[in-house]
Amino acid sequence: MQHLLSVDDMSEDFIHEIWTNALNNKDNISTSLSGKILTNLFYEASTRTSSSFYSAMTRTGGSVIPINNVKFSSVTKGETLEDTIIAMSTLSDCIVLRHPDTGSANRAAKVSSVPIINGGDGEGEHPTQTLLDGFTIYSNNNKSLDNLNITFIGDLKNGRTVKGLVKLLSRYKNNNFNFISPESLKLPSELLPSNSIESENIENVIDKTDVLYVTRVQKERGSDHDYSLSLEKLNLLKRDSIVMHPLPRVNEIPREFDNDKRAKYFEQMRNGLWCRIALLEKIILG
Ligand code: CP
Repeated sequence: MQHLLSVDDMSEDFIHEIWTNALNNKDNISTSLSGKILTNLFYEASTRTSSSFYSAMTRTGGSVIPINNVKFSSVTKGETLEDTIIAMSTLSDCIVLRHPDTGSANRAAKVSSVPIINGGDGEGEHPTQTLLDGFTIYSNNNKSLDNLNITFIGDLKNGRTVKGLVKLLSRYKNNNFNFISPESLKLPSELLPSNSIESENIENVIDKTDVLYVTRVQKERGSDHDYSLSLEKLNLLKRDSIVMHPLPRVNEIPREFDNDKRAKYFEQMRNGLWCRIALLEKIILG
């Protein structure tokens, strides 16, 4: 049984297999998961992750038990995470868990009799977002994740998507990292790759950036900054750069930029569907 709790659980071969199958899924989806059931167990709000897993499972012939609002589940009666996981293990073939506590996916995996996929645990990780983020770069950069100048901007302290993508890109060759945030929202120093620049403003690096990864300030985790990139600033990017955002956005990127060919944030969502189909097939069918 294979859980997916962290980027560390994904070898390069595993990732390559998922991305190859994700590319194939764009043209040809089979009913490979017919008869299989996924539990979507979400203790925190989600639009993309819960819906993307729902779409991936049902497009491949499977079904979903949607527990997208634990307020209407026995969690409100005091049921522990462990008991809920054991209960849902008896009814389904895989569980996607989103939970506000860092480490909750690991707790779930300890008691589950079916694979657990971490759909985001507090300030920890969100490995399927990393999978689709990496795939978006891979498919826009001639199937390579080497030799990139990547700039992360926003709430780098609390945003779990940045942490996962930094881990992934650090495995590849000759990547340079720029981290742009106010002092209070800096990436924890233990996660900084050796070849990184930290700054409070983007002006010095924006015109050299290949991938701009923008994140929302996580107000639900106590952050209180606001920022937005102007069209004028975004137009300093190279013509062949790409702009990514895990979404939801608040006002970090103006809507007027959405039709720019460098804007890839809605493509990321579509890529998430192809990647999650490939992942569910790999994890449920082996
Ligand atoms: N990117 C992401 O995880 O979005 P949701 O919070 O809407 O699932």
